[in-house]
Amino acid sequence: MVSEMVSVRNICCVGAGYVGGPTAAVIAYKCHHIKVTICDLNQARIDAWNSDKLPIYEPGLEEVVFDRRGKNLFFSTDIDTAINEADLIFVSVNTPTKKAGLGAGKAADLAYIEKATRRIAEVAKSSKIVVEKSTVPCRTAESMRTILEANSTEKVRFDILSNPEFLAEGTAINDLFHPDRVLIGALQTPEGIAAQRALAEVYENWVPADRVITTNLWSSELSKLAANALLAQRISSINALSAVCEATGADVDEVAYAVGRDSRIGPKFLKASVGFGGSCFQKDILNLVYLSQSLNLPEVAEYWNQVYLLNEYQKKRFVKKIISTLFNTITHKRIAVLGFAFKKDTGDTRESAAITLIKDFIQENAHVAVYDPKVEHEQMYMDLSDNLPDTRKNVEEHLTICADAYEAAKDADAVIIVTEWDEFKTLDYQRIYDNMHKPAFLFDGRLMLNAEELRKIGFKVHTIGKNELAGTA
Ligand code: NAD
Ligand code: UDX
Repeated sequence: MVSEMVSVRNICCVGAGYVGGPTAAVIAYKCHHIKVTICDLNQARIDAWNSDKLPIYEPGLEEVVFDRRGKNLFFSTDIDTAINEADLIFVSVNTPTKKAGLGAGKAADLAYIEKATRRIAEVAKSSKIVVEKSTVPCRTAESMRTILEANSTEKVRFDILSNPEFLAEGTAINDLFHPDRVLIGALQTPEGIAAQRALAEVYENWVPADRVITTNLWSSELSKLAANALLAQRISSINALSAVCEATGADVDEVAYAVGRDSRIGPKFLKASVGFGGSCFQKDILNLVYLSQSLNLPEVAEYWNQVYLLNEYQKKRFVKKIISTLFNTITHKRIAVLGFAFKKDTGDTRESAAITLIKDFIQENAHVAVYDPKVEHEQMYMDLSDNLPDTRKNVEEHLTICADAYEAAKDADAVIIVTEWDEFKTLDYQRIYDNMHKPAFLFDGRLMLNAEELRKIGFKVHTIGKNELAGTA
């Protein structure tokens, strides 16, 4: 019986992506007594995890993986063996927004979760704790339980836990080493509570026990969507205010600082930007919108949808500002885009604002010269062409991928800062200015450069949330 299980010794993580890879690797790093096998259907991804060049870039990840790989950390496509050996299985597969069918454009696609769950049900020969690590709509654990229980026998029983992941990309290892909290939801039965305790004990090898929160299953599932919705809502709120700032002469950084000093509000996630990106915020808000609609709560759905719509507005507003400033046309102009990743310190481009911006520039027949220190060139082509051959040809004609920021900015009419990579702070902007067409425009979508210094060089600068005339106020 799982309820009697006291200690987890063997973990399998199904899904070797941005969450499964780092999360399970950190467990192996912190718990040498536990064997951890991370498995995936994708052979190329597993090969990369087993190579010197890991499939994802994340500060500190190499140290963790290289330290434990081959000792108590393994990467494999032999999912069945990994499932069978494990007493606890994380399901950390992707749950993207559905592209077609019921709920298309909003609902989460749960096909990968279901497939992984069915596989566990089919191949497991002993009892397992199955942990929902992916972000899922509220009550998904119920579907997983139904599938698993339909395949349970006297000898094989399954306990389901919800253990959503709160790491952010770019800081994943630090977030996993020092989480604000670890959330574990379980059915409040003796077996459920015993399984909850077994997982809590794994984390308590390095996380203080008072940071391990236990709840019921549905609270845990919903808390993940809620956390992302609230974080995204703060960004949309400050971005909405950035438009007011530009129209009034208020400075959005000053407003964010003044507001954030209120201890009830706090300073984090109030940085105005060109719009939030990443694989989670948009997907999870839309997921919450769909859930609310399905529960016949249209006002609630509308409320959260506005967070998403404002983000779309912010990206379009920035594009419009660029075009209107460049004398209402960017046709045949060279636009240098600095940054393609959705935030610094990651090579991930999912839902990056850069994709929306560059697609719009290409639509306007501009020539885009892009530079990003981490994003693979092929990834940019795939993102910008949506994998359509004709579109790709057009993208290739309009896009140059550059080796550095200086090359991108050479002969450009405008430089656009899209990702807040640290190296963009210390560029030789005089050199960039000297090699640009004049007037030389610079648009700071991350509020990271000193606009006054740039104006002294000669740049015409626009910063989100700041009005060029603000100094006269
Ligand atoms: P990902 O796409 O990087 O990785 C998912 C992996 O699962 C892929 O490698 C895929 O091949 C594999 N997979 C899919 N179906 C499988 C199956 N049946 N068997 C074995 N492998 C399978 O996704 P991700 O970014 O790691 O996200 C995973 C989940 O975690 C999502 O639900 C996401 O919302 C959530 N999440 C992501 C983040 C983040 O920052 N990326 C943070 C918190 C939570
Ligand atoms: C987010 C959540 O932070 C994390 O807890 C969850 O597990 C997954 O989703 P992530 O998307 O990796 O993490 O990065 P995050 O730091 O939240 O940034 C998301 C986007 O918001 C980025 O495009 C970032 O540039 C933007 N952002 C963030 C802002 O525009 N302003 C801010 O103040 C903070």
